Amino acid sequence: MCMPRQLRDSSLLRNQAFSHGKWIEARSNARFEVEDPGTGKPFISVPDLAVEDVDSIVESSQEAFEAYRSVNPRTRAELLLSWHNLIRANRDDIATILTYETGKPLAEAYGEIDYATGFTWWFAGEAERIRGDLSVPSAPNRRVITIKQPIGVCVALVPWNFPIAMILRKVGAALAAGCTIIAKPSPETPLTTLTLAHLAQKAGFAPGVFNVITTSNENTPSLSEAMCKHPMVQKVSFTGSTAVGSIIATHCAKGLKKVSLELGGNCPFIIFADADLDVALAQLTALKWRHAGQACVSANRIYVQEDVYEDFLARLVEHTSRIRVGHGARHGVTMGPLTTPRGVEKARRQVEDALQRGAHLALGGNVLTSTGDDVSERAGDSEKVAGGGYFFQPTILRDMNSSMAITREESFAPIAAVYRFQTEEEVVRLANDTEMGLASYVFTRDINRSWRMLERLEAGMIGLNTGNSSAAESPFGGIKMSGYGKESGKDVAVAEYLVSKTCTLTLEGNI
Ligand code: SIN
Repeated sequence: MCMPRQLRDSSLLRNQAFSHGKWIEARSNARFEVEDPGTGKPFISVPDLAVEDVDSIVESSQEAFEAYRSVNPRTRAELLLSWHNLIRANRDDIATILTYETGKPLAEAYGEIDYATGFTWWFAGEAERIRGDLSVPSAPNRRVITIKQPIGVCVALVPWNFPIAMILRKVGAALAAGCTIIAKPSPETPLTTLTLAHLAQKAGFAPGVFNVITTSNENTPSLSEAMCKHPMVQKVSFTGSTAVGSIIATHCAKGLKKVSLELGGNCPFIIFADADLDVALAQLTALKWRHAGQACVSANRIYVQEDVYEDFLARLVEHTSRIRVGHGARHGVTMGPLTTPRGVEKARRQVEDALQRGAHLALGGNVLTSTGDDVSERAGDSEKVAGGGYFFQPTILRDMNSSMAITREESFAPIAAVYRFQTEEEVVRLANDTEMGLASYVFTRDINRSWRMLERLEAGMIGLNTGNSSAAESPFGGIKMSGYGKESGKDVAVAEYLVSKTCTLTLEGNI
């Protein structure tokens, strides 16, 4: 096992899957390698579990559920808080592991841990807020009572862009509700999930309450299908592409499994001429360049009103030119690589398509190839990065129009695609002209317009003068082809892991 940067506590770096409190291999003993996207080289391997491994792990979760479902909510809250504190206490090492598996710069890795532990904190509180209700119905002598109970064994299918945040958002809600859960992290980023499992065990969660399956890209479709169709699994929560989300929903439909889907974005970011452009720029650059654009809530289509188009673009180019691209663990780097080579290829194809259809490059536009130099260079003026890896220059495309591929598909790359618009009517039509509906962002100082935009934009989350609306206490989720179900937020997130029973009680006497 080789971790290029030393950890304070090497026991946090695990290289086995985790079931029923034990570190396990695949039945086949097969393993697969995990790459550092900053070098493109493997640095550790983990077990490649397959369909034949699923039964015993689900059975472990079912056995654990029989006991965990009755654990008092206060105790569940205390367990979540102990876990939360252990994660916080090991923040430095976890950030290092996260940087090596995702490629994101260390500062962003810390940012993800801080965001993610918002979920453990929040769901510790939610555990004790779960309650049913009592009502007096129209029929005489009756009371109607509803109670909430944990749904059972759950499965979390988690992507590679925010592997800690996505785990804690799903697993935190499930454990607060009294469910047990099996996490299957993405094959690119299994390591931090295993670290979290290790810390959950230390926090006192019983064997089987939180299991982790590691599996390769080859085995992911069949293994996920087996989990979705397993009769003991009651609920599946998936974050990823709309194409895969639809397959997951199909698998779950046969067994009528409860599903929540957090899918693709293609989010519009709209800047009106009356906006505070400094605020809009700061919010856009934080959102767009976060994790090199690899977020489903990222600004995919940036609409700038005609009067301020050139001014705003110039500021965006100036700001972006200061980004330093390189290995995420290196001091001073502000943008890391893409996590997969597929991401680089997609970015290249999208830029080529836009240029062919009339867009112009305001900055960047190229794949960054390794030169072997141990230097990271400024975004605008060099193609040098250290020692290999999946890098793409921070890129700004101007004069975008609706015929271009980026208009219809998420980039998931450091590409800012900037469109012009004239009127509010026009930009509402353009913004909604997508099958996706995850998030939309609007910048204006006009309160009446803000309110109109909130009501007219078709998205599950609307940022008004902000590019960052993700928080443990706010419901997260999309509409249209961006999925259904809410994660985080008061009541709604935990409700995804609960069933409700209605009790009708007839009383004696005329009451
Ligand atoms: C995502 O983009 O996949 C999640 C981002 C967030 O939670 O803010």
